[in-house]
Amino acid sequence: MPRELLTVSAGQAGNQISSEFWAQLCAEHGISPDGLLDQHPFAQSSSSTSTLGGDPTPHHQPYHDRKDVFFYQADDDRYIPRAVMVDLEPRVLNGIRNSPYANLYNPENFFESQDGGGAGNNFAKGHAAGDAVWNDIAEMLEREAEGSDSLEGIMLLHSIAGGTGAGLGSYILERLSDVFPKKLIQTYSVFPHATGDIVVQPYNSILTLQRLAEFADSVVVLDNKALANICQDRLHIGEPSYSQTNQLVSTVMAASTQTLRYPGYMNNDLVSMIASLIPTPRCHFLSTSYTPFTSDKVEQARAVRKTTVLDVMRRLLQPKNRLVSTSFASDAKSSCYISIMNIIQGDEVDPTDVHKSLVRIRERGLASFIPWGPASIQVALTKPSPYVRARSAAEGTAPPPRVSGCMVANHTGIASLFAAQLRQFDLLRNKKAFLQAYTPEPLFNGTLEPFEDARNAAAELIDEYRAAEKATYVDYGAPASNSDADGRQRAR
Ligand code: GTP
Ligand code: MG
Repeated sequence: MPRELLTVSAGQAGNQISSEFWAQLCAEHGISPDGLLDQHPFAQSSSSTSTLGGDPTPHHQPYHDRKDVFFYQADDDRYIPRAVMVDLEPRVLNGIRNSPYANLYNPENFFESQDGGGAGNNFAKGHAAGDAVWNDIAEMLEREAEGSDSLEGIMLLHSIAGGTGAGLGSYILERLSDVFPKKLIQTYSVFPHATGDIVVQPYNSILTLQRLAEFADSVVVLDNKALANICQDRLHIGEPSYSQTNQLVSTVMAASTQTLRYPGYMNNDLVSMIASLIPTPRCHFLSTSYTPFTSDKVEQARAVRKTTVLDVMRRLLQPKNRLVSTSFASDAKSSCYISIMNIIQGDEVDPTDVHKSLVRIRERGLASFIPWGPASIQVALTKPSPYVRARSAAEGTAPPPRVSGCMVANHTGIASLFAAQLRQFDLLRNKKAFLQAYTPEPLFNGTLEPFEDARNAAAELIDEYRAAEKATYVDYGAPASNSDADGRQRAR
């Protein structure tokens, strides 16, 4: 039975990332920008759960191409993204309507507010808009859910620093659990560069962080500082455009959903991925790493020589390949992994190489784990999309790397990203700066309480991650215990 997913994107960052992600999904599933099925040399069936069994090497497993996890088919057989796109100003959605993918989307799934003025980088304004626009958005989401056989979850794509993605995005999160109480809610949340151009971004970010902690089952953190660093250091792009950073994001989003779309034996649905990565409900902020980033000349040169599974698994643990900028290893000495899942993609990955790599990682102590749970790196093996490979062969472009990897990890060091946001929040708040932009809005109702609540929630979240570094975490939230055990484990 398909376990479908629905994306809802809000604001500029959310919609720009969403359109890049959907373009990537089209490429990986052989769907043209008009939603038509590409002619594929190996395709045997055009059904939505086709098994592409034409791999030239007969010992390979067939590809189970689950287009229906993200797409559905219209009456004329065109594939349509299960995507709702929301904004309070028309510019970005108009851009998508004028892009080569204009005909891909269901035009009924674009929502923009009538007054069209945006939320002016103000969480409280975006949140206030929610009351007026929610019914229309909920109707779109319900229509998509009713059109699915068994909707598993909803993914919210947004940034936390502006007005719409942060404020309206939070409003959507708050309401989703009422309308869809049994669905998983995952977000892909863009965290701002500390030197961002929005002065009130710390207010917006902390207000959003509170809602992400309370209402999401899982948050994949995308950090604009890390994205900029990867573009500069790995891809040699001095001043990356959003389009370039969003390509990194879409590559990683596609890789992290690969096991859902091309299922193998493990992690075939979101619930099993989340269950294994998030052992305790509040520590649900995940980071991702990826290697090799494709236009990385140095990596590519190496990849051409020989990329081994060990290379990939080792690189995934390096801060420079992570889409979150805190350096987990050099952070607090005590910071450690709660869980790790590696999705290794390649045509000829030998499971014994994976086992050997895990042994090496453990011997060299490359990853330290929490003392209260299993210290294991889970590994899922997948194959590259046959469509991408066929297209690169047909067009004479570089083939996919022999082995690539995506790591999704839960690491206590993520708390230092929150702590940095909280410090900036305190600076602004102590100066009483820009409060008058927030207090008249309905959420604030003339008081500063929502700021205090959000500050407390962020501080508690940071506290819980710090507590999770100790063996005593099993008693967290319970009356104080005398135990001071604090040994950390190494990867198994
Ligand atoms: P308003 O325009 O204020 O109503 O809200 P919005 O949600 O449209 O704002 P936006 O998404 O532009 O949020 C601003 C934050 O998002 C800043 O930190 C930007 O750097 C970041 N941002 C904006 N567009 C993109 C994008 O396409 N990709 C990435 N990675 N970040 C973006
Ligand atoms: Mg905007």
